Amino acid sequence: MEKRKNFSSKLGIVLASAGSAVGLGNVWRFPTEVGEGGGAAFILVYVLCVVLLGLPLMVSEFIIGRYTHKNTADAYRQLAPRSGWIAQGYLGVFTSWFILCYYSVVAGWTMKYLVEAIVGGLSEISDSSAYFAAFSGSTWEPLVYMTVVMLLCHLVIIRGVQSGIERSSKLMMPLLLLIIAMLVVFSFSMPGSSAGLTFLLKPDLSKLTSSVILSAMGQAFFSLSIAMGCLCTYASYFTDDARLVKTAGSVAAIDTTVAIMSGFIMFPAVFSVEAVTPDAGPGLVFITLPHVFSIAFGNVPLLGWFFSVMFYLLLLLAALTSMVSIHEPPTAFLLEHFKLSRPVATTIVTVVCLCVGVLCCLSFGPLADCRPLFGLTFFDFFDFVSAKIFLPLGGIIISLFVGWRLDRDIVVSQLTNNGSLHIPAWFIAAFIFLLRWLIPLAVGGIFIRELGLI
Ligand code: PHE
Repeated sequence: MEKRKNFSSKLGIVLASAGSAVGLGNVWRFPTEVGEGGGAAFILVYVLCVVLLGLPLMVSEFIIGRYTHKNTADAYRQLAPRSGWIAQGYLGVFTSWFILCYYSVVAGWTMKYLVEAIVGGLSEISDSSAYFAAFSGSTWEPLVYMTVVMLLCHLVIIRGVQSGIERSSKLMMPLLLLIIAMLVVFSFSMPGSSAGLTFLLKPDLSKLTSSVILSAMGQAFFSLSIAMGCLCTYASYFTDDARLVKTAGSVAAIDTTVAIMSGFIMFPAVFSVEAVTPDAGPGLVFITLPHVFSIAFGNVPLLGWFFSVMFYLLLLLAALTSMVSIHEPPTAFLLEHFKLSRPVATTIVTVVCLCVGVLCCLSFGPLADCRPLFGLTFFDFFDFVSAKIFLPLGGIIISLFVGWRLDRDIVVSQLTNNGSLHIPAWFIAAFIFLLRWLIPLAVGGIFIRELGLI
């Protein structure tokens, strides 16, 4: 078994964690949810969920990971030996493995669109909706793209914490932020874009139904990579001088900024094209945007080509850094728990994901009618179970664990780096209060409601 390494710098820590958080959730899922949830009103609730629920949970995962310097399963085993809490450690490992199986399918789609954008194929699409349906519903092409992105992720993970995860994040994240900034400018420059801005900035509070609040919370958790073992595993590679609260704040700030910027990219562009509505759903990125780009192609083809390539490159980079963080928890678990070498552990995770991923990938074509579980396709089942069940459940367990069970001295010493940082007493009290009461009650209530139990 390899010797355990830490990230080598504070910048590496922030960029790797932000790489985990910034993903398809920001660029693909967030604008869709904003579109369906009525624009600015949704964003308002979303930000509240990030600050009140997301941040304390992120810090909690950091505490568990950094204190133990172990993979998620063994971290809980160390902190609460021979207790039921250990199940949360396994749940973390399992959830990330689960997510990777379907996340890689969508990541594969982004790669297909990037390739099409590069060869100029997107400009020739006349019916982008039929095109997407034909592609995602076919058998081999989506499988090949899924396998390629999975292998890219494999290549990063196999190189380990410093030369794999940290190095790739330091390369990909700045590039990603640069592309985002460029695309915002592009989108604003499209005629008629101001309607999109109004939609994003002017809250219509009548749209705030309980189901919107529910999706805002789910989106905040998913986007911050909470309760899936990823942050806890990354934190186990944090150095002892890393400031947990500050890091969590930076990661949440980067993540939220990227999500809102993605809205700024998408909606002004979308509103500038007639007959495209903001609530176009999950197809926004793969159906609506190619249409928007193809209109842009009409006027200045080269510019349209450039920006469509940049957009899908952005999507792919975001997806890859997140995939890497989802791959690491099960890899670290196999590596440390069963004392395997990194290449062997990485390969096992990749192969299992590819095998299960086939079922998710074919859910849009040959297996569309195969719905053995709860009447859902494999893809929808994996998405439902991880995002709607494991995720809130994990959130509740983590908050209860750190709020009630974990030794308060450990919490304080991790927050203050063994007393070397000054963290006001009210802050610690508020942190514990949120973990003990607000988060379990809010998330639990919403969870129960969502399952239709009340
Ligand atoms: N947060 C990532 C996103 O926004 C997704 C993710 C989920 C990453 C779970 C890690 C763990 O796309």
